[in-house]
Amino acid sequence: MSRCCIHPSILSADFVNLEAELARIGSADAVHVDVMDNHFVPNLTLGLPVVERIQAVSPIPLDAHLMIADADRWAPLYAELGLASVTFHAEAAIAPIKLARELRARGAKAGMALRPTTAVEPYLDMLGEIDMLLIMTVEPGFGGQAFLDATLPKIRRARAAVDGSGAKVAIQVDGGISASTIERAAEAGADVFVAGSAVYGAADPAAAIAALRAAAEA
Ligand code: DX5
Ligand code: ZN
Repeated sequence: MSRCCIHPSILSADFVNLEAELARIGSADAVHVDVMDNHFVPNLTLGLPVVERIQAVSPIPLDAHLMIADADRWAPLYAELGLASVTFHAEAAIAPIKLARELRARGAKAGMALRPTTAVEPYLDMLGEIDMLLIMTVEPGFGGQAFLDATLPKIRRARAAVDGSGAKVAIQVDGGISASTIERAAEAGADVFVAGSAVYGAADPAAAIAALRAAAEA
């Protein structure tokens, strides 16, 4: 792996001091913003107005992860904020190809996420429609959970399919990524790594980002 992307998740940041928390991760490639609606997942975080303000002050691009129902309706509104990428859950979208096209038409990279037990195979024919495939490595909803090794074969199958398709699709993993699990995910074929508690739980987030990067590229 020659190059990896580290996307710290602000879910583990101090929500009262978001601007300062963003400044602490300036060496990362993007900031991962977890949007939860208490319907698709049993937790509630933030929505459009707060994401808009994060976008206005962030020194690095935004990678929105929408854990929300009715993705077809809401995801395009996030793309209209000018975010670098918007990821919807396949399980929450009625028309994922149409939705991915709408995101791209609004200038965002289109990401599609799969819960740990959602198979990747039904979606392989639409690899050309997306820029990023997010394979959840925990059940979405909360930070600080343990990495699910049972997702590794799916990451491998996704990597083989992406390489075989010729499509330029990043494979992102999210959940339980730490200095001790990132190598397994990278070896399986992931190339974009979300880390919440491993970055914001560290005394020095910049050092944690550097350590994750080094471990992923080892
Ligand atoms: C969980 C979120 C993750 C979360 C990861 O549903 O999608 O982005 O912040 O947190 P860690 O890295 O602590 O598992
Ligand atoms: Zn996430």
